[in-house]
Amino acid sequence: MLFDPFQRRINYLRISVTDRCNLRCRYCMPEEGIPTIPHEKILTYEEILRVVRIFVAEGISKIRLTGGEPLIRKGIVEFVANLSKIDGIKDLSLTTNGILLKDFARDLKRAGLNRVNISLDTLQKDRFYRITRRNGFERVWEGIQEAIHAHLSPIKINMVAIRGMNDDEIESFAQLTFRLPLTVRYIEYMPSGNGEEWKEGSILTVKEIKGRLERMAPLIPIASNSLDGPARRFHFEGALGEIGLIGPVSDHFCGNCNRLRLTPDGKIRTCLFSDEEIDVREYLRNGAGDEELRERLLEALKRKPEKHQINTRQFKKCQRNMSAIGG
Ligand code: GTP
Ligand code: 5AD
Ligand code: SF4
Repeated sequence: MLFDPFQRRINYLRISVTDRCNLRCRYCMPEEGIPTIPHEKILTYEEILRVVRIFVAEGISKIRLTGGEPLIRKGIVEFVANLSKIDGIKDLSLTTNGILLKDFARDLKRAGLNRVNISLDTLQKDRFYRITRRNGFERVWEGIQEAIHAHLSPIKINMVAIRGMNDDEIESFAQLTFRLPLTVRYIEYMPSGNGEEWKEGSILTVKEIKGRLERMAPLIPIASNSLDGPARRFHFEGALGEIGLIGPVSDHFCGNCNRLRLTPDGKIRTCLFSDEEIDVREYLRNGAGDEELRERLLEALKRKPEKHQINTRQFKKCQRNMSAIGG
């Protein structure tokens, strides 16, 4: 088992397989995108597999693939198939914007993926274009249906709630849970992108969202288990799906943090909001043995900060864009 200096058990690795994305969400990127990591600096799938094998042997049991958009990286299905063969992974999942999900859902399931989280901030076609600067609402919606058919469940929809952007859709997202087996999760807007300027006033806090949901119907809490992330879970009586509330800004969940991140260019990131990164790429490429790579992991654990500094005066926006970390 892996523990950090604050006695948090670390069992979750989020792997960003590419910093490239096929959308341009306003809160994340400008229209022209942001400079991408050169291909030769991106870890190969073989390199990632080696890191994962070592980390899983030490106590990581939950793996998530993210991006950018993970489904645009060539060979992703075969990579998932190889990952899923690693003994000791109990939960293998992927976070996607859903644009390509319709084409990939069944193959991913067959390759051994357990489940998907889909980022979707609006249920309105025109607004989807305004937020992401691309057309694609129907494709994402079809992707969600396909994920349901392929049993990539539980299927979670991540909605970043931003005042003036989609705050009038809290209730319509929640309505989905009555008729579809989806977990709708509301995420507080964090200062992490290189898109439009983040303002504290744009955040809809989980408290505010919860209040609005409670006006629809009583919210029944669901106990979380050890593999659960920072979401607080609820459901409406009789609903097929669930509600999740993720409050990175207002709800200090850092005390339960269970994760490390691996960036596309081979750095272990100790926290979403710390630029402290431990390199593994150069070790991999300079012939390091498993023991040396294991030491990199232990070093990352040692340096994991106790909590993020959002909402404090010390807070500095991190250097890396969200798209090169993977959320
Ligand atoms: P599940 O295992 O399905 O609960 O996934 P998850 O919540 O770990 O993954 P997902 O990619 O769906 O993440 C949802 C969002 O929660 C992230 O994109 C972030 O916005 C937020 N989040 C997840 N982990 C952290 C974290 O360690 N710190 C902060 N501040 N926010 C996080
Ligand atoms: N605040 C909150 N969530 C964000 N995401 C991307 N940028 C932000 C932000 N600034 C979300 C995406 C996706 C997840 C991986 O991170 O919408 O659901
Ligand atoms: Fe953990 Fe950092 Fe996330 Fe807080 S912000 S929950 S310490 S990774």
